[in-house]
Amino acid sequence: MSDERVIDEIAAARTAALAAIADAGSSGALAGMEPRFFGKTSDFGRIRSRLGQLDAELRKDAGRALHEARGEVESALEARRAELETAERRARLEAERLDLTEVVADRPLRGHYHLVSQAHRRLEDVFVGMGFTVAEGPEVETEWFNFKALNFADDHPARDMQDTIYVDLGEPGSTLLRTHTSPVQMRTMLAQDPPIYVVCPGRTFRRDTADATHMPVFHQIEGLVVDRGITFADLAGTLDEFVKAFFGAERTTRLRPSYFPFTEPSAEFDISDPTTRSGWLELGGCGMVHPNVLAAGGIDPEEWTGFAFGFGTDRMGKIFHGVDDLRALWTNDVRFLRQF
Ligand code: PHE
Repeated sequence: MSDERVIDEIAAARTAALAAIADAGSSGALAGMEPRFFGKTSDFGRIRSRLGQLDAELRKDAGRALHEARGEVESALEARRAELETAERRARLEAERLDLTEVVADRPLRGHYHLVSQAHRRLEDVFVGMGFTVAEGPEVETEWFNFKALNFADDHPARDMQDTIYVDLGEPGSTLLRTHTSPVQMRTMLAQDPPIYVVCPGRTFRRDTADATHMPVFHQIEGLVVDRGITFADLAGTLDEFVKAFFGAERTTRLRPSYFPFTEPSAEFDISDPTTRSGWLELGGCGMVHPNVLAAGGIDPEEWTGFAFGFGTDRMGKIFHGVDDLRALWTNDVRFLRQF
């Protein structure tokens, strides 16, 4: 390159830079281009390092031309950056937009039950189809219904302040937010004579830190059967029947020995789930109603036997719909909720 052509070179470098800036498709791409225009090895950089070798006159002209060209490229870069960022922000907002007027305008979108409520309704349907009725009980319970009548020893760890949320009402420790739906077993036994076939879906509360699989407020469905000659086989058969009706015929169930104060024997209840490592997913607990519990409910354990079960329904809705984080059930984000 001869000295005389330096002015043309500056003009060419300027044109190339401006064209590249106009072409940049994103603010990220634009940021990546800067070293190409202003770095030591850029066109401007190389021209600048040659300025010293030029005649004084030419050096002055070339210096001025270079300064102007760089200034122009800098402002073009700045303007394009602002333009791209605005467009990107607009695209982001557009993607996150919830246009409620659209819904009203031509395609009235009906609301629907939350997926946990849907699970409860489907559960009720399945059990009503099996001859059960639906019972209800209060969320604010007494210690007696939640623990004592269910044969919990006075020092049972589940009574610990860690697990139970107590309500500041009456004697300290006498009123609480029910930690399970099992108090409804007792309320039902006291309210009606056997035979009893009830289910009770409802809200339950424990001192738990929210994470993907735990919430301090969660839901369970309780089942209670009291009749003559009820055996563990009736329990196993009922659970299997219900799981197949709810999740589909390809699911099976498994019972593992466990302990609950209000059932004897007691079992943990799993359903087959190919998405877990073990192939099983724990749903809840069950067992034969403890004689002490029947007696506390005013039912003669010599004459009647029964079974009970209780499991987490948030978890069921979660498995049913493949939701991977329980917290999503509480976000109130319409974009999440309208999928179900
Ligand atoms: N109430 C128990 C729990 O919350 C579950 C259960 C219900 C177990 C009925 C046995 C019988 O863990």
